[in-house]
Amino acid sequence: MKIAITGASGKTGYRITEEALKKGIKVKQILRKNSKIKENQKNNEIYRISLDNKYELDKALENIDALIIATGARASLDLTGPAKVDALGVYRQLQSCKRVGVKRVILISSLCTGRLFHPLNLFGLILIWKKIGENFLKNQSFDWTIIRPGGLKENEKVESENIDYTKEDTQFKGSIPRRLVAKCCIDSLSNKQSINKIIEVTSSSENKKVSFKKAMQTI
Ligand SMILES: NC(=O)c1ccc[n+]([C@@H]2O[C@H](COP(=O)([O-])OP(=O)(O)OC[C@H]3O[C@@H](n4cnc5c(N)ncnc54)[C@H](OP(=O)(O)O)[C@@H]3O)[C@@H](O)[C@H]2O)c1
Repeated sequence: MKIAITGASGKTGYRITEEALKKGIKVKQILRKNSKIKENQKNNEIYRISLDNKYELDKALENIDALIIATGARASLDLTGPAKVDALGVYRQLQSCKRVGVKRVILISSLCTGRLFHPLNLFGLILIWKKIGENFLKNQSFDWTIIRPGGLKENEKVESENIDYTKEDTQFKGSIPRRLVAKCCIDSLSNKQSINKIIEVTSSSENKKVSFKKAMQTI
């Protein structure tokens, strides 16, 4: 299997690459022209492109079995970021998937997506634009999965953290290490029952341990 990961320079994106490589999945890392990525986070197939350039994007997404979208507007003073990246950027990636024939797409979104009255919306109404991005994907052209994590954490000590997997609009707070979100993306790739599902994820040492496979049978 070969996949592409957009936002591969991001803090979740590079971990998705690592988790994919551990499973023997080949990876195309898709970055912006100026994205910074550490040497030890680089794979041997890197595409530096602009999401606005159809030709470059199509070239990068050719000959893959699935796309994992880990792009997201970085916090900045530019309040148009979420509209540009989390809605339009997702749209452009999906249009490219249609052109080059990629059907399987996994999108990292967020808990509380679609909510208007939420402090996160102070950054360019991000939760509204993320919902619009999700809606572009929920379409019969795709075998789609949307992963909605809680607040993302950098800690790598995840052995004692168990994931609470639930269906859409059931969790409104909580957090999860990026490493576990990356693992969810890769678990989803090989699990047909995750197709056409929105999966909300947070983690805690107090949760009961449940496998991804088992969770997909109940969501
Ligand atoms: N932070 C949280 O607590 C939280 C909670 C729930 C969900 N999320 C979502 O989870 C996802 C991953 O979050 P993260 O914190 O791991 O991400 P991150 O480290 O901020 O990385 C974001 C990625 O998106 C890329 N990107 C940004 N603007 C772009 C553009 N215009 N064109 C192409 N690529 C662009 C960045 O590229 P550069 O390296 O070039 O900037 C980077 O690779 C995001 O969608 C985020 O919104 C975050």
